[in-house]
Amino acid sequence: MFVQRIITKDYDEMSRRAADFVADKLRQNPELRLGLPTGNTPRGMYEQLVERYARGELDFSRVHTFNLDEYWGLEPDHPAAFARYIQNHFLRHVNVPSGQAHWPAGKGDAAENARTYEARIGAEGLDIIILGIGVNGHIGFNEPGAAFDARTGFVQLAERTRQDAFHPRSGFATREDVPIHGITMGIGTILEAKSILLLASGASKAEAIQRALEGPVTEEVPASALQRHGDVTVIVDEAAAARLADK
Ligand code: GLP
Repeated sequence: MFVQRIITKDYDEMSRRAADFVADKLRQNPELRLGLPTGNTPRGMYEQLVERYARGELDFSRVHTFNLDEYWGLEPDHPAAFARYIQNHFLRHVNVPSGQAHWPAGKGDAAENARTYEARIGAEGLDIIILGIGVNGHIGFNEPGAAFDARTGFVQLAERTRQDAFHPRSGFATREDVPIHGITMGIGTILEAKSILLLASGASKAEAIQRALEGPVTEEVPASALQRHGDVTVIVDEAAAARLADK
């Protein structure tokens, strides 16, 4: 395992460093195949990337983007849909051509959607996948117990994940509206990316980060699978790093 750890003083610095990481990779490879997360954590990184694009510093015209996951049963324009999130926070402000932005469809035939999505990711795989982490150690919607060789597929959300998914900016009107299922790149799919960038901010993530990076590699902590990857960069703020023994 090669893990580079960057501990930042706060959320804003985490976001800037994450954007620096993407910008560097993009300059090295303008045809980047980029796996993208949603959630609160990467909002600041997207803001940074959008600002840098607006200043003329970045060109996404040859980039392909691939969302990590999606709720099951939502229309792509539902306020909580990750397809909508990525449009609102990133795609609509930069020059990724629409045919080069991909996400797993969250309605219809789940097995067929999963196959289609894996085929789009293709044998080439992803150059980078950026991940957030759930308080229970999930990555994408790979919940505790998910197999490390899992491919993109239909999954059940953990109850804790559904609870955390309901917040003022979530796009859900009520707690009960949070879907019970999702479709997610599998851990096997994620581990095939050439580089992985893991982001976390805040004290609520400290335990998950410690278990992911320093705990046993176990399917009970999906993010611990990252210890099996050869090129992982972790950018976390001080609060999220608080429980790491090795800082
Ligand atoms: C969701 C998403 C994950 C995300 C996680 C953490 O469950 N499926 O991809 O990393 O939540 O979200 P947040 O960044 O809002 O804490």
